[in-house]
Amino acid sequence: MYHLLFETVLRRLDPERAHRLAFALIRLVSRLPVLRRLVAARLAPRRDELRVEALGRSMPGPFGLAAGFDKNAEGIDGLAMLGFDHVEVGTVTGRPQPGNPRRRLFRLTPDRALINRMGFNNEGSAAVAARLAARAEGRARGAAGGRAAGAAPVVGVNIGKTKAVPEEEAVEDYVTSTERLAAHADYLVVNVSSPNTPGLRAFQATEALRPLLSAVREAADRAVTRRRVPLLVKIAPDLADEDVDAVADLAVELGLDGIIATNTTVARDGLGLTAPPSLTAETGGLSGAPLRDRSLQVLRRLYVRVGGRVTLVGVGGVTSAEDAWERILAGATLVQGYSAFVYEGPGWARSLHQGLAARLAASPYATLADAVGAEHRKAEAA
Ligand SMILES: Cc1cc2nc3c(=O)[nH]c(=O)nc-3n(C[C@H](O)[C@H](O)[C@H](O)COP(=O)(O)O)c2cc1C
Repeated sequence: MYHLLFETVLRRLDPERAHRLAFALIRLVSRLPVLRRLVAARLAPRRDELRVEALGRSMPGPFGLAAGFDKNAEGIDGLAMLGFDHVEVGTVTGRPQPGNPRRRLFRLTPDRALINRMGFNNEGSAAVAARLAARAEGRARGAAGGRAAGAAPVVGVNIGKTKAVPEEEAVEDYVTSTERLAAHADYLVVNVSSPNTPGLRAFQATEALRPLLSAVREAADRAVTRRRVPLLVKIAPDLADEDVDAVADLAVELGLDGIIATNTTVARDGLGLTAPPSLTAETGGLSGAPLRDRSLQVLRRLYVRVGGRVTLVGVGGVTSAEDAWERILAGATLVQGYSAFVYEGPGWARSLHQGLAARLAASPYATLADAVGAEHRKAEAA
Protein backbone atom coordinates (compact mmCIF):
# COMPACT_ATOMS: atom_id res chain seq x y z
CA MET A 1 0.00 0.00 0.00
CA TYR A 2 2.68 2.52 1.06
CA HIS A 3 4.91 1.42 -1.79
CA LEU A 4 2.11 2.18 -4.23
CA LEU A 5 1.56 5.61 -2.65
CA PHE A 6 5.29 6.25 -2.78
CA GLU A 7 5.65 5.26 -6.41
CA THR A 8 2.57 7.12 -7.62
CA VAL A 9 2.50 10.27 -5.46
CA LEU A 10 5.30 10.85 -2.97
CA ARG A 11 8.26 10.34 -5.26
CA ARG A 12 6.89 13.00 -7.59
CA LEU A 13 6.86 15.55 -4.78
CA ASP A 14 9.87 17.55 -3.72
CA PRO A 15 11.38 15.44 -0.88
CA GLU A 16 11.19 18.19 1.72
CA ARG A 17 7.53 18.87 0.88
CA ALA A 18 6.77 15.18 1.04
CA HIS A 19 8.42 15.05 4.47
CA ARG A 20 6.39 18.00 5.74
CA LEU A 21 3.17 16.50 4.40
CA ALA A 22 3.79 13.03 5.83
CA PHE A 23 4.85 14.42 9.20
CA ALA A 24 1.78 16.68 9.38
CA LEU A 25 -0.42 13.65 8.70
CA ILE A 26 1.31 11.61 11.42
CA ARG A 27 0.79 14.44 13.93
CA LEU A 28 -2.83 14.88 12.91
CA VAL A 29 -3.66 11.20 13.37
CA SER A 30 -1.91 11.10 16.73
CA ARG A 31 -4.09 13.95 18.00
CA LEU A 32 -7.28 11.94 17.41
CA PRO A 33 -7.40 9.54 20.37
CA VAL A 34 -9.50 6.80 18.78
CA LEU A 35 -7.49 6.74 15.57
CA ARG A 36 -4.23 6.97 17.48
CA ARG A 37 -5.12 3.93 19.55
CA LEU A 38 -6.15 1.97 16.46
CA VAL A 39 -2.94 2.80 14.61
CA ALA A 40 -0.75 2.13 17.65
CA ALA A 41 -2.46 -1.22 18.29
CA ARG A 42 -1.60 -2.26 14.74
CA LEU A 43 1.84 -0.72 14.32
CA ALA A 44 3.22 -0.59 17.83
CA PRO A 45 2.09 -3.74 19.62
CA ARG A 46 4.11 -4.46 22.75
CA ARG A 47 6.48 -7.37 22.48
CA ASP A 48 7.88 -8.17 25.90
CA GLU A 49 10.73 -10.21 24.45
CA LEU A 50 12.15 -7.11 22.72
CA ARG A 51 12.24 -4.93 25.85
CA VAL A 52 15.69 -3.50 26.53
CA GLU A 53 17.31 -1.69 29.43
CA ALA A 54 19.51 1.07 28.08
CA LEU A 55 20.75 4.47 29.19
CA GLY A 56 19.05 4.04 32.54
CA ARG A 57 15.64 3.46 30.98
CA SER A 58 13.48 0.49 30.24
CA MET A 59 12.52 0.74 26.58
CA PRO A 60 9.79 -1.20 24.72
CA GLY A 61 12.36 -2.24 22.11
CA PRO A 62 15.75 -1.36 20.68
CA PHE A 63 14.64 0.54 17.58
CA GLY A 64 14.39 4.30 17.39
CA LEU A 65 14.01 7.11 14.90
CA ALA A 66 17.34 8.84 14.27
CA ALA A 67 17.86 12.57 14.63
CA GLY A 68 16.81 14.92 11.85
CA PHE A 69 13.26 13.76 11.21
CA ASP A 70 11.69 15.65 14.12
CA LYS A 71 14.08 18.57 14.49
CA ASN A 72 11.77 20.66 16.68
CA ALA A 73 10.16 17.95 18.85
CA GLU A 74 6.77 18.46 17.23
CA GLY A 75 5.65 14.89 16.71
CA ILE A 76 7.16 12.58 19.32
CA ASP A 77 3.89 10.90 20.22
CA GLY A 78 2.90 10.43 16.60
CA LEU A 79 6.22 8.75 15.89
CA ALA A 80 5.83 6.52 18.94
CA MET A 81 2.38 5.61 17.58
CA LEU A 82 4.17 4.22 14.51
CA GLY A 83 6.24 1.92 16.73
CA PHE A 84 9.51 3.75 17.29
CA ASP A 85 10.78 2.76 20.72
CA HIS A 86 12.68 5.98 21.11
CA VAL A 87 12.69 9.22 19.20
CA GLU A 88 15.78 11.39 18.95
CA VAL A 89 14.73 14.99 18.34
CA GLY A 90 17.00 17.66 16.87
CA THR A 91 19.57 18.58 15.96
CA VAL A 92 18.72 21.61 18.07
CA THR A 93 21.14 24.55 18.09
CA GLY A 94 21.62 27.30 20.68
CA ARG A 95 19.90 29.87 18.48
CA PRO A 96 17.12 29.43 15.92
CA GLN A 97 18.36 29.23 12.32
CA PRO A 98 16.82 28.64 8.89
CA GLY A 99 19.36 26.11 7.59
CA ASN A 100 20.69 26.11 4.04
CA PRO A 101 18.75 27.45 1.05
CA ARG A 102 16.43 24.97 -0.69
CA ARG A 103 16.72 22.57 -2.47
CA ARG A 104 18.68 20.77 0.21
CA LEU A 105 17.26 17.24 0.32
CA PHE A 106 17.57 14.76 -2.56
CA ARG A 107 16.23 11.25 -3.09
CA LEU A 108 18.34 8.61 -4.78
CA THR A 109 15.44 6.20 -5.06
CA PRO A 110 17.05 3.22 -6.86
CA ASP A 111 19.82 3.28 -4.24
CA ARG A 112 17.40 3.65 -1.33
CA ALA A 113 19.51 6.64 -0.30
CA LEU A 114 19.20 10.34 0.46
CA ILE A 115 21.58 13.25 0.23
CA ASN A 116 20.89 16.17 2.55
CA ARG A 117 22.47 19.49 3.34
CA MET A 118 19.69 20.79 5.56
CA GLY A 119 22.20 22.64 7.76
CA PHE A 120 20.41 22.25 11.13
CA ASN A 121 17.25 24.16 10.25
CA ASN A 122 15.51 24.41 13.63
CA GLU A 123 13.69 26.72 16.00
CA GLY A 124 16.52 26.88 18.51
CA SER A 125 16.94 25.45 22.01
CA ALA A 126 14.65 27.92 23.83
CA ALA A 127 11.66 27.15 21.59
CA VAL A 128 12.25 23.40 21.58
CA ALA A 129 12.66 23.37 25.38
CA ALA A 130 9.34 25.22 25.73
CA ARG A 131 7.63 22.68 23.44
CA LEU A 132 9.02 19.73 25.37
CA ALA A 133 7.95 21.32 28.66
CA ALA A 134 4.42 21.86 27.32
CA ARG A 135 4.25 18.25 26.16
CA ALA A 136 5.34 16.97 29.58
CA GLU A 137 2.72 19.18 31.25
CA GLY A 138 0.02 17.94 28.89
CA ARG A 139 0.90 14.33 29.58
CA ALA A 140 0.90 14.93 33.35
CA ARG A 141 -2.50 16.64 33.15
CA GLY A 142 -3.86 13.80 31.01
CA ALA A 143 -2.59 11.17 33.44
CA ALA A 144 -4.06 13.06 36.42
CA GLY A 145 -7.41 13.21 34.59
CA GLY A 146 -7.27 9.47 33.92
CA ARG A 147 -6.61 9.91 30.19
CA ALA A 148 -3.59 7.83 29.37
CA ALA A 149 -1.61 9.46 26.58
CA GLY A 150 -0.09 6.16 25.46
CA ALA A 151 3.17 4.61 26.59
CA ALA A 152 5.78 7.32 27.01
CA PRO A 153 8.44 6.95 24.32
CA VAL A 154 12.02 7.56 25.32
CA VAL A 155 13.10 10.98 24.07
CA GLY A 156 16.67 11.75 23.11
CA VAL A 157 17.68 15.34 22.46
CA ASN A 158 20.46 15.90 19.94
CA ILE A 159 22.30 19.23 20.12
CA GLY A 160 24.63 20.95 17.67
CA LYS A 161 26.38 24.21 16.98
CA THR A 162 24.64 27.35 15.72
CA LYS A 163 26.17 28.19 12.34
CA ALA A 164 26.63 31.92 13.10
CA VAL A 165 28.53 31.18 16.32
CA PRO A 166 32.30 31.31 15.82
CA GLU A 167 34.22 28.14 16.62
CA GLU A 168 35.83 29.70 19.72
CA GLU A 169 32.34 30.13 21.21
CA ALA A 170 30.99 26.75 20.16
CA VAL A 171 31.29 25.22 23.65
CA GLU A 172 29.15 28.02 25.11
CA ASP A 173 26.55 27.44 22.41
CA TYR A 174 26.32 23.72 23.31
CA VAL A 175 26.24 24.62 27.01
CA THR A 176 23.32 27.04 26.46
CA SER A 177 21.36 24.30 24.68
CA THR A 178 22.23 21.82 27.42
CA GLU A 179 21.02 24.16 30.17
CA ARG A 180 17.71 24.60 28.38
CA LEU A 181 17.13 21.06 27.18
CA ALA A 182 18.72 18.59 29.62
CA ALA A 183 15.71 18.54 31.95
CA HIS A 184 13.50 17.39 29.06
CA ALA A 185 15.86 14.72 27.73
CA ASP A 186 15.93 11.05 28.60
CA TYR A 187 19.35 11.23 27.00
CA LEU A 188 21.41 13.99 25.44
CA VAL A 189 23.52 13.70 22.28
CA VAL A 190 26.40 15.95 21.32
CA ASN A 191 26.40 16.00 17.54
CA VAL A 192 29.82 16.78 16.10
CA SER A 193 29.40 14.85 12.89
CA SER A 194 27.05 16.63 10.53
CA PRO A 195 28.85 17.54 7.30
CA ASN A 196 26.58 20.53 6.77
CA THR A 197 27.86 22.97 9.41
CA PRO A 198 31.29 24.29 8.46
CA GLY A 199 34.00 23.25 10.93
CA LEU A 200 31.70 21.07 13.05
CA ARG A 201 33.41 17.78 12.39
CA ALA A 202 36.74 19.17 13.61
CA PHE A 203 35.24 18.79 17.10
CA GLN A 204 35.64 15.04 16.74
CA ALA A 205 39.37 15.44 17.34
CA THR A 206 39.98 14.53 20.97
CA GLU A 207 41.68 17.85 21.84
CA ALA A 208 38.46 19.65 20.87
CA LEU A 209 36.03 16.93 21.92
CA ARG A 210 37.32 16.49 25.48
CA PRO A 211 36.60 20.08 26.63
CA LEU A 212 33.29 20.14 24.75
CA LEU A 213 31.97 16.93 26.29
CA SER A 214 33.25 17.87 29.74
CA ALA A 215 31.50 21.24 29.57
CA VAL A 216 28.23 19.68 28.40
CA ARG A 217 28.45 17.04 31.14
CA GLU A 218 28.95 19.72 33.79
CA ALA A 219 26.13 21.85 32.38
CA ALA A 220 23.76 18.87 32.37
CA ASP A 221 24.66 18.08 35.99
CA ARG A 222 24.11 21.69 37.02
CA ALA A 223 20.78 21.86 35.17
CA VAL A 224 19.38 18.54 36.40
CA THR A 225 20.28 17.48 39.92
CA ARG A 226 17.60 14.82 40.57
CA ARG A 227 18.98 12.33 38.07
CA ARG A 228 22.01 11.93 35.85
CA VAL A 229 21.10 12.67 32.24
CA PRO A 230 22.93 10.15 30.01
CA LEU A 231 25.31 11.81 27.57
CA LEU A 232 26.25 10.40 24.15
CA VAL A 233 28.33 11.59 21.24
CA LYS A 234 27.40 11.03 17.58
CA ILE A 235 30.26 10.43 15.16
CA ALA A 236 30.80 10.43 11.41
CA PRO A 237 31.50 7.35 9.30
CA ASP A 238 34.27 9.28 7.58
CA LEU A 239 36.60 9.20 10.59
CA ALA A 240 39.82 7.28 10.05
CA ASP A 241 39.95 4.06 12.09
CA GLU A 242 42.52 5.54 14.53
CA ASP A 243 40.17 8.45 15.15
CA VAL A 244 37.30 6.08 15.87
CA ASP A 245 39.55 4.39 18.43
CA ALA A 246 40.47 7.76 19.92
CA VAL A 247 36.80 8.70 20.39
CA ALA A 248 36.16 5.29 21.95
CA ASP A 249 39.02 5.77 24.41
CA LEU A 250 37.84 9.28 25.24
CA ALA A 251 34.32 8.02 25.88
CA VAL A 252 35.67 5.53 28.41
CA GLU A 253 37.96 8.13 29.96
CA LEU A 254 35.14 10.65 30.42
CA GLY A 255 32.57 8.11 31.57
CA LEU A 256 30.36 8.91 28.59
CA ASP A 257 27.15 6.88 28.43
CA GLY A 258 27.10 6.15 24.74
CA ILE A 259 28.34 6.60 21.19
CA ILE A 260 26.03 6.86 18.19
CA ALA A 261 27.61 5.48 15.05
CA THR A 262 27.08 6.93 12.53
CA ASN A 263 25.93 10.17 10.96
CA THR A 264 25.77 10.62 7.15
CA THR A 265 28.86 10.34 4.96
CA VAL A 266 30.51 12.78 2.57
CA ALA A 267 31.72 9.79 0.54
CA ARG A 268 29.74 8.62 -2.47
CA ASP A 269 30.72 4.94 -2.38
CA GLY A 270 28.22 2.17 -2.82
CA LEU A 271 25.90 4.00 -5.22
CA GLY A 272 24.52 2.04 -8.17
CA LEU A 273 25.59 2.81 -11.72
CA THR A 274 22.21 4.36 -12.42
CA ALA A 275 22.61 7.17 -9.89
CA PRO A 276 22.58 10.34 -12.00
CA PRO A 277 25.84 12.31 -11.62
CA SER A 278 23.80 15.51 -11.23
CA LEU A 279 22.42 14.08 -7.99
CA THR A 280 25.48 12.33 -6.61
CA ALA A 281 27.42 15.58 -7.11
CA GLU A 282 25.07 17.45 -4.74
CA THR A 283 26.99 18.46 -1.62
CA GLY A 284 25.75 17.08 1.66
CA GLY A 285 25.62 13.89 3.66
CA LEU A 286 24.67 10.60 2.06
CA SER A 287 22.45 8.26 4.09
CA GLY A 288 20.54 5.05 3.54
CA ALA A 289 21.57 1.70 2.10
CA PRO A 290 24.97 2.76 0.66
CA LEU A 291 26.08 3.77 4.16
CA ARG A 292 25.38 0.40 5.71
CA ASP A 293 28.75 -1.31 5.44
CA ARG A 294 30.84 1.59 6.74
CA SER A 295 28.48 2.29 9.66
CA LEU A 296 28.60 -1.38 10.62
CA GLN A 297 32.41 -1.37 10.41
CA VAL A 298 32.64 1.66 12.71
CA LEU A 299 30.26 0.03 15.18
CA ARG A 300 32.29 -3.21 15.22
CA ARG A 301 35.48 -1.26 15.80
CA LEU A 302 33.92 0.66 18.67
CA TYR A 303 32.67 -2.52 20.34
CA VAL A 304 36.09 -4.12 20.15
CA ARG A 305 37.46 -1.05 21.91
CA VAL A 306 34.79 -0.35 24.55
CA GLY A 307 33.02 -3.70 24.99
CA GLY A 308 30.10 -3.27 27.36
CA ARG A 309 31.52 -0.15 29.04
CA VAL A 310 29.78 2.34 26.74
CA THR A 311 26.32 1.87 25.21
CA LEU A 312 26.55 1.77 21.41
CA VAL A 313 23.79 2.94 19.10
CA GLY A 314 24.01 1.57 15.54
CA VAL A 315 22.66 3.78 12.75
CA GLY A 316 23.34 4.15 9.06
CA GLY A 317 21.74 2.14 6.30
CA VAL A 318 19.52 0.03 8.54
CA THR A 319 16.57 -1.07 6.42
CA SER A 320 15.56 -4.58 7.40
CA ALA A 321 15.26 -6.63 10.57
CA GLU A 322 18.32 -8.49 9.36
CA ASP A 323 20.27 -5.21 9.34
CA ALA A 324 19.12 -4.39 12.86
CA TRP A 325 19.97 -7.89 14.13
CA GLU A 326 23.42 -7.60 12.53
CA ARG A 327 24.00 -4.32 14.42
CA ILE A 328 22.99 -5.92 17.71
CA LEU A 329 25.34 -8.88 17.19
CA ALA A 330 28.07 -6.37 16.27
CA GLY A 331 27.62 -4.54 19.58
CA ALA A 332 24.67 -2.14 19.37
CA THR A 333 22.29 -2.05 22.32
CA LEU A 334 20.07 0.36 20.41
CA VAL A 335 19.52 0.70 16.67
CA GLN A 336 18.21 3.71 14.76
CA GLY A 337 17.21 4.59 11.23
CA TYR A 338 15.88 7.46 9.17
CA SER A 339 16.28 7.10 5.39
CA ALA A 340 14.53 3.75 5.05
CA PHE A 341 11.48 5.28 6.75
CA VAL A 342 11.03 7.38 3.61
CA TYR A 343 11.08 4.31 1.38
CA GLU A 344 9.38 1.75 3.65
CA GLY A 345 6.66 3.95 5.16
CA PRO A 346 4.61 3.81 8.34
CA GLY A 347 4.74 0.02 8.75
CA TRP A 348 8.53 0.02 8.87
CA ALA A 349 9.06 -0.19 12.64
CA ARG A 350 6.43 -2.90 12.91
CA SER A 351 8.04 -5.16 10.32
CA LEU A 352 11.43 -4.53 11.86
CA HIS A 353 10.13 -5.56 15.29
CA GLN A 354 8.46 -8.67 13.88
CA GLY A 355 11.64 -9.72 12.13
CA LEU A 356 13.77 -9.05 15.18
CA ALA A 357 11.49 -11.11 17.40
CA ALA A 358 11.69 -14.00 14.92
CA ARG A 359 15.49 -13.78 14.80
CA LEU A 360 15.78 -13.68 18.57
CA ALA A 361 13.47 -16.69 18.91
CA ALA A 362 15.55 -18.66 16.40
CA SER A 363 18.83 -17.69 18.07
CA PRO A 364 20.63 -19.23 21.03
CA TYR A 365 20.08 -16.01 23.04
CA ALA A 366 17.37 -15.67 25.66
CA THR A 367 17.19 -11.88 25.45
CA LEU A 368 18.34 -9.12 23.14
CA ALA A 369 20.81 -8.08 25.83
CA ASP A 370 22.49 -11.50 25.51
CA ALA A 371 22.82 -10.99 21.76
CA VAL A 372 24.56 -7.59 22.02
CA GLY A 373 28.11 -8.01 20.73
CA ALA A 374 27.71 -11.80 20.46
CA GLU A 375 29.62 -12.04 17.17
CA HIS A 376 32.78 -10.90 18.95
CA ARG A 377 32.46 -13.56 21.65
CA LYS A 378 31.89 -16.20 19.00
CA ALA A 379 35.01 -15.07 17.16
CA GLU A 380 36.99 -15.27 20.41
CA ALA A 381 35.70 -18.76 21.20
CA ALA A 382 36.56 -20.06 17.71
C1 LIG B 1 17.17 14.64 5.93
C2 LIG B 1 18.10 14.21 7.03
C3 LIG B 1 18.35 15.10 8.08
C4 LIG B 1 19.20 14.71 9.11
N1 LIG B 1 19.41 15.57 10.14
C5 LIG B 1 20.19 15.18 11.17
C6 LIG B 1 20.38 16.03 12.29
O1 LIG B 1 19.82 17.13 12.37
N2 LIG B 1 21.21 15.61 13.29
C7 LIG B 1 21.82 14.38 13.26
O2 LIG B 1 22.53 14.04 14.21
N3 LIG B 1 21.64 13.55 12.21
C8 LIG B 1 20.84 13.93 11.19
N4 LIG B 1 20.67 13.07 10.14
C9 LIG B 1 21.39 11.78 10.12
C10 LIG B 1 20.55 10.63 10.65
O3 LIG B 1 20.21 10.83 11.99
C11 LIG B 1 21.35 9.32 10.52
O4 LIG B 1 22.49 9.36 11.34
C12 LIG B 1 21.80 9.04 9.08
O5 LIG B 1 20.82 9.46 8.17
C13 LIG B 1 22.11 7.56 8.85
O6 LIG B 1 20.98 6.78 9.06
P1 LIG B 1 20.04 6.24 7.85
O7 LIG B 1 20.95 5.65 6.84
O8 LIG B 1 19.11 5.28 8.50
O9 LIG B 1 19.33 7.45 7.34
C14 LIG B 1 19.82 13.43 9.09
C15 LIG B 1 19.55 12.56 8.04
C16 LIG B 1 18.70 12.93 7.02
C17 LIG B 1 18.42 11.97 5.91
